[in-house]
Amino acid sequence: MKFAAACCALTLSCSAAFAPQQIYARNSALHADTATKTYSFTKSEEIFQEAKELMPGGVSSPVRAFKSVGGNPVVFDRVKGAYAYDVDGNQYIDYVGTWGPAILGHADDDVLKAITETMQKGTSFGAPCPLENELAKKVIAAVPSVEMVRFTNSGTEACMGMIRLVRAYTGREKIIKFEGCYHGHADSFLVQAGSGVATLGLPDSPGVPKSATQATYCAEYNNLESVKQIFEENKDEIAAVILEPVVGNSGFIKPDQAFLEGLREITKAHGALLVFDEVMTGFRVAYGGAQQYFGVTPDVTTMGKVIGGGLPVGAYGGRRDIMEWVAPAGPMYQAGTLSGNPLAMRAGIETLNKLSQPGVYEELERKAQKLIDGITAAAEKHGHAITAGVAGGMFGWFFCEGPVKNFADAKNKADGEKFSKWHRMMLERGVYLAPSMYEAGFMSMAHTDADIEKTIAIADEVLAQLK
Ligand SMILES: Cc1ncc(COP(=O)(O)O)c(C=O)c1O
Repeated sequence: MKFAAACCALTLSCSAAFAPQQIYARNSALHADTATKTYSFTKSEEIFQEAKELMPGGVSSPVRAFKSVGGNPVVFDRVKGAYAYDVDGNQYIDYVGTWGPAILGHADDDVLKAITETMQKGTSFGAPCPLENELAKKVIAAVPSVEMVRFTNSGTEACMGMIRLVRAYTGREKIIKFEGCYHGHADSFLVQAGSGVATLGLPDSPGVPKSATQATYCAEYNNLESVKQIFEENKDEIAAVILEPVVGNSGFIKPDQAFLEGLREITKAHGALLVFDEVMTGFRVAYGGAQQYFGVTPDVTTMGKVIGGGLPVGAYGGRRDIMEWVAPAGPMYQAGTLSGNPLAMRAGIETLNKLSQPGVYEELERKAQKLIDGITAAAEKHGHAITAGVAGGMFGWFFCEGPVKNFADAKNKADGEKFSKWHRMMLERGVYLAPSMYEAGFMSMAHTDADIEKTIAIADEVLAQLK
């Protein structure tokens, strides 16, 4: 799910500075001091111990293992609305929302009804189905850059298709990405930037061949000069600039408006494509994604998460002349056995139907802002430095003085040790937050003001005790 955050636990100086297990032990000792009843996790522990024997690290995707905050993960039994329930019967107010898709709330009744109906006709056709047209029309109508779309099964697959497409279309191989931005786990994207302004990419994970990343250049987010420099050094060779238009994989980091506008100008001037990876931000920060929120239109967009309504879906889309390069309309090959399957299409359609109602994003942002204001005030009251932000239904904070403009700021300034303690203490009191300070938070339509007020009250109690 989140390579950036997972690798942070291995590579960042702030992560290396403390031992998560020790923090967990210290947090558990805090139980006795708290007014709020705290949870126990007996069954979760048992199931996770068994899982570790069966699956690498006990999980199907790395960040779920809680490595960067310490302690073991809780094992979920079921989810509904704003809540998750673990196998020990503990209830959590959930701000992870299955990493973004659950924007209506978990297991929305209308989405469940729609999938149940659709399932009666079968789960996969491997042939064209009208539901693909229906979802495609909705995506095209909503997202300013998208005139045609190709559905995939995950965000990673969408990004893999996208990178091949930008290279095929431009006849160039080099791409620019940004330090701390995650675009799925395909080889070309697993590049860790050095501390300099712009460095030539080197493989970030064993098993990624140098040849796969040597055409990947890393620039610094919110730093146009770092991008210009790479363009100057690689004239007529850059196929595309690819970014998260609001970063959610280095923690929550907003782009400067001038940064996005500058990228649009630079790419145009150099005959390169601008790609917004909206796997996280698409239908999340606004119905038309970050491109609508900021009024900057890229050439190509990747999507996922929300457009699948909780089922596995990804998509990439863009201008017609670009998308017509994709097979079988054009020569660029990309395929998928389960792509466009009726269940996922129907879940996406039903989700977008509900999201397209007036006022939805204003309400999501109001609630996210209320949560952030409450947590910020509590942190300040108890003497903790904090910097926070919101965009539509996405939010986040770092325990440090702001601003945090990019991954280097997050890595160098934010207090990872404090975050780990905070995470465990919130969890033990019924608030489920992403288990890494390099992740964003997600608000859903199902969260009530009472849920948010309860979260703020718990945060106040935790922050009062947090050292
Ligand atoms: C911006 C971005 N791109 C791509 C991906 C990869 O998507 P998936 O996990 O569905 O493969 C993610 C996943 O979190 C993401 O946040």
